[in-house]
Amino acid sequence: MTATTVATRGKTLVFPEGFVWGAATAAYQVEGAVAVDGRGQSIWDVFSRRQGAILDGHTADTACDHYHRYADDIRLMDRLDLMAYRFSVSWPRVQPTGSGPVNPAGLDFYDRLVDGLLAAGITPYLTLYHWDLPQALEDLGGWASRDTAHRLADYARVVHDRLGDRVAAWMTVNEPWVSAFVGYGIGAHAPGRTSPADAFRAAHHLMLGHGLAAQALRAGGAQTVGLMLNLAPVITPGQVNDPGLTLSAQDAEAVERVDALLNRQFLDPALRGEYPPGILPIVERVAGLGHIHDHDLATINQPVDLLGINYYTPCVVRSGPGEPSNAAYPGTEDVEFCGAYAPTTAMGWPIVPTGLSRLLEHLTREYPGVGLVVTENGAAFDDVVTDDRVRDADRIAYLESHLRAAYDAIQAGADLRGYLVWSLLDNFEWAEGYTKRFGLVHVDYATQRRLPKDSAVWYRDVIRRNGLHT
Ligand code: NOJ
Repeated sequence: MTATTVATRGKTLVFPEGFVWGAATAAYQVEGAVAVDGRGQSIWDVFSRRQGAILDGHTADTACDHYHRYADDIRLMDRLDLMAYRFSVSWPRVQPTGSGPVNPAGLDFYDRLVDGLLAAGITPYLTLYHWDLPQALEDLGGWASRDTAHRLADYARVVHDRLGDRVAAWMTVNEPWVSAFVGYGIGAHAPGRTSPADAFRAAHHLMLGHGLAAQALRAGGAQTVGLMLNLAPVITPGQVNDPGLTLSAQDAEAVERVDALLNRQFLDPALRGEYPPGILPIVERVAGLGHIHDHDLATINQPVDLLGINYYTPCVVRSGPGEPSNAAYPGTEDVEFCGAYAPTTAMGWPIVPTGLSRLLEHLTREYPGVGLVVTENGAAFDDVVTDDRVRDADRIAYLESHLRAAYDAIQAGADLRGYLVWSLLDNFEWAEGYTKRFGLVHVDYATQRRLPKDSAVWYRDVIRRNGLHT
């Protein structure tokens, strides 16, 4: 037990007034109904049919059937007292081929969803792009092609025209690092390409898409615009427990390089209008610089009202021998990525709550003036249903420790405005299929029955008291 726990036992750690508590999902992971009401194909529909791409050959054809059950799911959110729900719009549902004709039935679904949320007093946080690129755009080059960024802006306009009068928070892209480097670099995600050069191009074009979409949203009158990044403090193994540790020059350089690739490649263009030091020589060596045009950085550098932070675990590295799996980080042949420095979740991700406070405090210092929201935090564990209950004490402990870290960061001055658990429901965890359960609510995929886990009840109480009871 730490000194803080002793000092605060029996008290409530109260979050700032107006703090937003909610949960998140993404279209492809929950909706199902992939061939319904005129929806087009996405890269995930195609990728998930590739032999060996998804664990156990799962597909998201049905997922949580949220497309048909959204009204029940809103009732569920209401019962949990959620103040906000972050969902994504499926691009191929709205524009089946990613450009041109709009599918009204697709937009109608989000219209009903948003109205249902508002009727229940739940604020919608809308993500435009959460990885389900229309396959027709992939056939034209996907995110490696500059044109896709312009198509994203057109699609943003279409969605905003329909929902802009009711949706306050507009988030452009989700985790561009993952889309680019896992999707195009190592091929573990759709579209399954293994080209580090395309990965760098995709990263730039996703950010260009963010900038162009942000401009389009603003022109349509959007007040709150942001994006979500998968951010992680990059530290050495020694710094996990001793943040102040002095690093050798080699370790410091390894940390800086990985931080540039993972975090600053996205943060700096969006919030400062520049690429971080040291990254362009790597990009040039791997991909050339032809895809970065004059003025792109100015386009990417749009005012950001909300920076969405998806945090799960730190990135722990040191100078040392690289491995083939470093391919997601081009230019790190002399960097060792370290694991096994803390207990892990079912994803194998070490649990380090101080990583979140460190990250929030770092962002506050380095990128002042931008509102912060944790748009994803949560954990997969091997849940078991017994006597109609999921006693997920491990998930409660994960969430509680991370909320304490968030609280500490707020005390230290971070402008953190909200926290959204990943995820509302167990769902299709990409390449892991349905084998990993992140939900506050258990989903029985055979019957589609929803069962709130103990963590859901615990979270409802956190929301009711706007804080943690210690
Ligand atoms: C990141 C992604 O945004 C989300 O789709 C995914 O399910 C979670 N993290 C967990 O891996």
